[in-house]
Amino acid sequence: MTKPLLLPESYWIASTEAPTHPPVEGRVEAQVAVVGGGIAGLCTAWEIARAGRSVAVIEAGRIVAGVTGNTTAKLTAQHGSIYAHLRDAFGPEAARHYADAQTGAVEHVAALASELGIDCEFERVPAFTYAEDESGVEALRDEAAAAREAGLDAEFTTETGLPFPVAGAVRVADQAQFHPRRFLLALAADLTARGGKIYEQSRVVELESEDGGHVLTVDGGSQVRCDEVVIATQFPVIDRLKLFARLTPHRELVVAAPIPESADPGGMYLTGEEHMRSVRTAPFGDGRRLLIVTGEAFTTGDPGTADRLERLTAWTAERFGATEIAYRWAAQDYTTSDRVPFIGALSGEDGVYVACGFGGWGMSNGVAAARLIADTMRGTPPAWAELFGPGRFHLLKEAGRLAASQGKVVKHLIGDRLGRPTPSDPDDLQRGEGAVMRVDGALRAVYRDEDGGLHTLSAACTHLGCVVGFNDAERTWECPCHGSRFSTRGAVLQGPAAAPLDRHPHE
Ligand code: FES
Repeated sequence: MTKPLLLPESYWIASTEAPTHPPVEGRVEAQVAVVGGGIAGLCTAWEIARAGRSVAVIEAGRIVAGVTGNTTAKLTAQHGSIYAHLRDAFGPEAARHYADAQTGAVEHVAALASELGIDCEFERVPAFTYAEDESGVEALRDEAAAAREAGLDAEFTTETGLPFPVAGAVRVADQAQFHPRRFLLALAADLTARGGKIYEQSRVVELESEDGGHVLTVDGGSQVRCDEVVIATQFPVIDRLKLFARLTPHRELVVAAPIPESADPGGMYLTGEEHMRSVRTAPFGDGRRLLIVTGEAFTTGDPGTADRLERLTAWTAERFGATEIAYRWAAQDYTTSDRVPFIGALSGEDGVYVACGFGGWGMSNGVAAARLIADTMRGTPPAWAELFGPGRFHLLKEAGRLAASQGKVVKHLIGDRLGRPTPSDPDDLQRGEGAVMRVDGALRAVYRDEDGGLHTLSAACTHLGCVVGFNDAERTWECPCHGSRFSTRGAVLQGPAAAPLDRHPHE
C-alpha cells in the first residue's frame, strides 16, 4: 500500500493569501537591511521602521513561507525543560533572563496585535509539559520549581485537559497561541505602509564592507547598500563566526485534523516521550477546532520518515479520535550547543547582527530577537541580551553536545562514504523511491519518479560535502550535517547549501 506523503502547504499557508513583493533590482539603499522574511526578520524590520529608520527585508523565497510558515505557532515561555537546564548550567539569573525574554515576547505580540488591530486568532491558554511515565515525574517537579524561580507562573500538576491520564505535568499559565501568518502578513503590510521595503526571490550570497557600511549581493548580482545588517535566516547565510558548527538541525512532522469544540484539550501540550509529541488547537469554524499534532523529531536525512508519519497519524487517531487528517506538513529548526539561541551583534563586526538557533521555539525567540536587536541598535539593549550573545562559548558546558554533533558530521562526511550499506542497483528502486548507492564507484542519490524515470545526482551536499539521505514522506534529499534540503531534481529547497546537487544523467 502506498504510504501517505506530506502535503506541500501547512495549514497556516493554505488558509492565508499573501501579496507578492518584487526582487531586488539594481542597487538599492536602506539604513538597515534584514535578511530573512520569517518572524525574526519581519518583527525586527518592523521595530526598526517604527523607530523611523529606513529598512529593507530581503527574502530568498516568499515571506512567512519558510520555517515560520510551517511552525506550530505556540507562543510560550515554556520550552520543555529549559529552566532546570539553564539554572544548572548557567545559574538562576540566566534562567530569569531567559524567562524575561520569552514572557516579554508573548506580551509584545499581544500588544502589537491589539495596537494594530490584527485578527490573528490570538488566544490565551496554559502551556503544559507532561509525562505519562512515572519515571519522568521527578524531572517535571524540578522543572516546575526552576520555572517558578525564573519568574513564570508555573506549577506541578496531574490535572490536564488531555483525554488520557498523565503521571505529571508542568503547567504555565497565561501563554498564547495564534495564527502566525495572519499576524505577520498584517505586520508586513504595516511595515510597508511605514515606508519599509520588502524584496522576495532574492537570495543573499555575499556580504562585504564598504565605506563604513555594508553591501549585500543577491544571486543575479543586484545589491543592497546599508549601514547595518541583520542576518535573520534560520541558518546564518553569512556565517563569519562559523556558528554552523554549533547548530544541530532537527525536523518534525505535523498532522492536523478537525475535532469538535467539545474535544478541545484547552491548552498547549508537549512531551519528550514517544519521540516528542506537541498538541495545540486552532479555530476551524462550524463548531470545530483544528487539532495540530507535531512529533517524531528526527535529524534531517535519517531514513524512515513515512513510517514516522504513520506513527504520528495513528497516535492522533488513538488519543483524540481524530482520523480525518486535513493537513500534513513538516517543520525544521536548529538547536545550539547550549540550547540558547544566537541573537545579537557579531563581536568585531560593526553593525552586523544575527538571530538563529531557536530550538523549535521560533515564535517567542523570533520576537525576542527583534526586540533585542532593535533595542541594541538604539543603544539600550535589554538586561537579558548578554545571555543570547552569539560570541559566547562555554567550552565545558557545550563540549558534550558539540562532540556529539561534530561526531555525527564526521560520520556523514567520512563514514557514509566508506561503509554505508546501500542498494547496489537502481533497478531495485520502486516508483517514488530514492536511495544513495554506488554508481560506477561514486556515491549517487538516485530517485525513480512516478513515470519510472531515473534521476541521478551527486550524493555530496554542496554545502560541505556530507552525504544526503532520502526523505520518503516528502520525496526530497536532506543533509544530516546542517539541514540543507534538495528536490529530486537537485534544486536547493533549503540552505545553507546555495548550489544544486550535480546531476548525472543515468546511462
Ligand atoms: Fe552542511 Fe550539507 S554539509 S548542510
